[in-house]
Amino acid sequence: MKTITLTTLKAMKEQKQKIAVLTCYDSTFAKVANNAGVDVLLVGDTLGMVLQGYDSTLPVTTEQMVYHTACVKSGNTNAFIISDMSFMTYGTLEDALKNAGLLMQAGAHMVKIEGDSWLAESIHKLTQNGVPVCAHIGLTPQSVNVLGGFKVQGKTEDQAKNLINTAKHLEEAGAAMLLIECVPSTVATQISQSVSIPVIGIGAGADTDAQVLVLHDMLGLNDKPAKFVKNFMEGQSSIESAIKEYVKAVKEGSFPSEAHQYI
Ligand code: KIV
Repeated sequence: MKTITLTTLKAMKEQKQKIAVLTCYDSTFAKVANNAGVDVLLVGDTLGMVLQGYDSTLPVTTEQMVYHTACVKSGNTNAFIISDMSFMTYGTLEDALKNAGLLMQAGAHMVKIEGDSWLAESIHKLTQNGVPVCAHIGLTPQSVNVLGGFKVQGKTEDQAKNLINTAKHLEEAGAAMLLIECVPSTVATQISQSVSIPVIGIGAGADTDAQVLVLHDMLGLNDKPAKFVKNFMEGQSSIESAIKEYVKAVKEGSFPSEAHQYI
């Protein structure tokens, strides 16, 4: 199995090879995802919802993210590991550096932070200190209370322009990857074409460089799945084969289909 690095992922974007990303929270699933060919494991703070049963990601702590990052690292052989910085742990440069350091020491290859243009300063500082950053824009679940719910973002022309400018600004600040969540496909397409760094999409159409789903969602364990979720367990006899189907669908571009996109 080929070891995936940031260089590999950048080359995949240049060569228009789709990148398969999946959330992962423990060692066993890291091994299964490796065997199924997943390129990037995202230790997402969605663990607050799918493992801990909360109704948002806000209660998740850095200590918990460090624990799950270490679990994933111990089962992983070749995938690139991104770990989420949890709610309110990167609002100051000092906090961002301290908490990102803990995640990197636990085994992350990159950290992910949510927001918009205000992230630029932290991205610059973290990158200077050896921490590659993925900037999560669009629907940013840690801001659910500001956004008034888990809603599609970038629907008006002004909001769409703002998202595209934010993406360019964060790339200039040093972001090595972007994640766009729940935006109309046309907006995500423009963003992916406007930046040279890999763009991961979730609920963002088929044209982003990478796709991510939450593990429990794609295994059909969510009884209220969002529009962009596909249950890959259907018709499969094992979790590994379901994840293989997901990887295949991402790589050949058949997922997400129109049914899984916002217009
Ligand atoms: O925390 C998470 O799992 C995420 C999702 C968007 C995949 O960021």
